[in-house]
Amino acid sequence: MSTLSQQFDTWIRTSFVEINDELEALYWQQEDKANVQGVGDALKVELVEQGESYIRALLAEGNTDEGFEQAFDLLGNVGLYMAACRRHEITEPSRERCSPLQDASALAMHIGASIGVTPRFATAHLTTHNKAINGVYKRFTSHPAEKLFVDYNTRAILAYKRGAEALMKVHHLGISHPMSLDLLEQLKRALLDVIESNQTLFSRLDTDAFFYVVRPYYKPYRVGKEVYRGANAGDFAGINVIDMMLGLCPANDISYGQMLVEKFLYMMPEDQATLRECMRTPNLMDAFLQALEGPRGEWFDEAAKLFVQVCKLHGDTAIQHHNQLVDKYIAKPSQHMQQQHMDKVTASGPPLEVLLRDLSNLRDRRAAAKREDIYTRYDDLQRLRAALSGE
Ligand code: HEM
Repeated sequence: MSTLSQQFDTWIRTSFVEINDELEALYWQQEDKANVQGVGDALKVELVEQGESYIRALLAEGNTDEGFEQAFDLLGNVGLYMAACRRHEITEPSRERCSPLQDASALAMHIGASIGVTPRFATAHLTTHNKAINGVYKRFTSHPAEKLFVDYNTRAILAYKRGAEALMKVHHLGISHPMSLDLLEQLKRALLDVIESNQTLFSRLDTDAFFYVVRPYYKPYRVGKEVYRGANAGDFAGINVIDMMLGLCPANDISYGQMLVEKFLYMMPEDQATLRECMRTPNLMDAFLQALEGPRGEWFDEAAKLFVQVCKLHGDTAIQHHNQLVDKYIAKPSQHMQQQHMDKVTASGPPLEVLLRDLSNLRDRRAAAKREDIYTRYDDLQRLRAALSGE
């Protein structure tokens, strides 16, 4: 890391957090906790002046070509700064046509384009690629709710990734291979880990703290002219690998395909490559249905039973995400929010009801729910279950 990058990183880990903490404390005292206007103006100036001084120098230093990891890390730091400016409404995409943070935008675009990712901070910066120094990893604030949220996001993402990695290997062995049972067992274990982690998050995360102090840092912001949607815990390939390899969500479905296309650049390049590979790979559901057509070998019942179980568990994680996490921490608190702030609630930008409908469709695809209006694998899973129970 260059000396300048190092100094900027140190600032992000220290003064940046302190300024955000002070501003959060001021917002929190108000009756309307969502208001940030006219509050802590001197602190906001301090944030911009300090941040810009590092960024200006880094921009002048130019692309020092220190490798992917350093570049990605620096992009994350610029992104954390830009997201904080958005949170404190120092910038506001609906008010502007171009980000007033010109140097930060230029630096972010330079790095993002050169390493093949979106020019903003993404989930990986805060979760799977967030180096801890002496036990503390990068965060916006020192609020315990933020730490809890990031810890459990990281835990669930790592578990999904473990499961996806095992599942990808089944394709090379085939569903009747005895080792595919081991791999499906690994996926099952990973999905149970996701469920347990989500459950803990659900029971321990404070609703108001999440809604007013954590979530606002994940809003969309402009880099140059373009608005980039907020980061969300879904910006990694693993969950989609599981969707598609199990056969629950098809890449050629218009709305699912749309989501994949849109999320590519929010993922790490290695995840982008995994997702592309997976989009070209046949799925296990079709393989099991195919096996029903001919004489069934001894392997079938055990493998199909496990397959049906993992499909159920994957659906359960999606139900949990939507019916528990999204409902408790986004949908319900939004109902109580003053109308003037409502258009700023989601990370991706669309109105809340549109976002909730899209997320519930995704949940139902993953859970293979019975739906007449969208494609799900309900009937196919019923066929497999019926075959297993000897009907
Ligand atoms: C308090 C906890 C959480 C809340 C309130 C929450 C809420 C949301 C919301 C509102 C979205 C839509 C994106 C947007 O706003 O634009 C989303 C997307 C997503 N979240 Fe979460 N989330 C939480 C935790 C998690 C965790 C722990 C995971 C596990 C990895 C996760 C996985 C995803 C995924 C994969 C997506 C993309 C859409 C999809 O494929 O389902 N979320 N989340």
